[in-house]
Amino acid sequence: MSFWNRHKIFETNSLVLIVGILLVISVGGLVEITPLFYLKSTIEKVDGIRPYTPLELAGRNVYIREGCYLCHSQMIRPLRDETERYGHYSLAAESMYDHPFQWGSKRTGPDLARVGGKYSDDWHVAHLKNPRSIVPQSVMPGYAFLAEAKVDAESLPDHLRANKMLGVPYTDEDISKAIVDVKAQIDPDSPAAADLSKRYPKAVVRNFDAQDGDPTEMDALVAYLQLLGTLVDFKLYNEKANLR
Ligand code: HEC
Repeated sequence: MSFWNRHKIFETNSLVLIVGILLVISVGGLVEITPLFYLKSTIEKVDGIRPYTPLELAGRNVYIREGCYLCHSQMIRPLRDETERYGHYSLAAESMYDHPFQWGSKRTGPDLARVGGKYSDDWHVAHLKNPRSIVPQSVMPGYAFLAEAKVDAESLPDHLRANKMLGVPYTDEDISKAIVDVKAQIDPDSPAAADLSKRYPKAVVRNFDAQDGDPTEMDALVAYLQLLGTLVDFKLYNEKANLR
């Protein structure tokens, strides 16, 4: 059998052919995947990204529990129509502390990746209680019960601990103060609020639902929504990117 006839071995034996195909196509996979094991991180570090405060984390848990992701994405693609409507496209670093991430794949409602600061707290509370009071043709369900439900503060240290296990850099201090922090974030005049802002820069400290008493799930969800997309200063980010 001459050299050029050897492909007969593959063409007359399907098992050998299958093994041959697997070997050849795995080269492409290996070339793409192997370097990822040697890179320290595939996520570019970006100034301003920090872990969620306990109240924001509680809000994120409500967001997941209520299935907001079934109608809302949190990822702005680098396409002109998206960046003109929603703002700067999303960076990988912006969801690096999200376990699980909330990129989503369904947009019955608008993308929420940069909704923080777009509306007032009152707007969010009224909209969440009854979306049709603000947007008459809205198909979004109402979540009025969140204003009655207190945040389960006692469980928050465990939530922080679980996130820490997954790589979110919460300190022991953050964990031990989680219950104090969650109350401080809706009480701007409390001494604990200043301490919270030191450990969580750019934390919005306000009585989000304007009700007295312990934080409600409405406070938590609005705190989370008001944070979304606000951590990165894109003026600085773009200046740095131009210097590279
Ligand atoms: C059945 C689909 C659906 C679900 C579930 C849903 N939404 Fe919406 N949402 C919409 C639609 C549609 C709109 C646009 C109309 C409006 O503003 O009500 C919207 C609008 C919004 C807006 C305003 C966005 C903007 O930029 O104007 C926010 C904020 C929001 N939703 C938050 C939430 C949160 C938080 C949850 C979960 C508690 C949720 N939504 C669940 C469909 C949904």
